[in-house]
Amino acid sequence: MKVISVAIDGPSGAGKSSLARRAAKTLGFVYVDTGAIYRTVAFYCSENGISPDDSAAVAAALPQMQIQIDYSEDGTQRMLLGQRDVSEQIRTPEISMLTSAVAAVPEVRAYLLDMQRKLAQVRSVIMDGRDIGTVVLPNATVKIYLTAAPEARAQRRCKELRDKGMDVTFEEILKGVQERDYNDTHRDISPLKRADDAHLVDTTCLDFEESLDVLVKVIRQYTGADL
Ligand code: DC
Repeated sequence: MKVISVAIDGPSGAGKSSLARRAAKTLGFVYVDTGAIYRTVAFYCSENGISPDDSAAVAAALPQMQIQIDYSEDGTQRMLLGQRDVSEQIRTPEISMLTSAVAAVPEVRAYLLDMQRKLAQVRSVIMDGRDIGTVVLPNATVKIYLTAAPEARAQRRCKELRDKGMDVTFEEILKGVQERDYNDTHRDISPLKRADDAHLVDTTCLDFEESLDVLVKVIRQYTGADL
């Protein structure tokens, strides 16, 4: 069977993960959330007192981290540090900020590159991140650049965190979104950018189901209509 890869890149809060997860379910692919892998590195650093700005210390710690990715029957991705499931702890705003710094360390990107490519070699995947179409899977079957206005993204992230019981303000979330956009697009290595051959999907004025519809249509169009 032919292995198909769908690369989805875009800024944080554009709905990449929830949309990619649902699209993967619809199409029978495995959803790979690469942001969660970077978040796990940041979480390890935070727990072990390693500053994400100390790139030499972060690089030196990589072999000890024992990062594992586990997929349950229903396709849910779990992040493990050794035997410990840290999938929930990596989702806080504090870890989001640390992740942005850790993701700019060249050794971290090189270390995770291999891991991500291997995942896409053995199965059909929808992989989301910042450099999937440009660096990780430059020959992906289809590439999508999924984006939305910063205010719309902050609004959605705010609701998501409040639904989880977190006490956050729109202003602080918007500031975080803008800071991460800046970091992700201005870093020297693998900055977030739309691949020349990526299809642009802007979800600013679309609700979840409308965005999903557009996404699945584009994927079907470029991977074969029989999916
Ligand atoms: O998608 P996310 O919000 O979980 O990503 C967290 C951080 O990781 C974000 O600042 C960008 C970074 N990241 C990256 O640099 N490359 C990826 N492939 C995925 C995420």
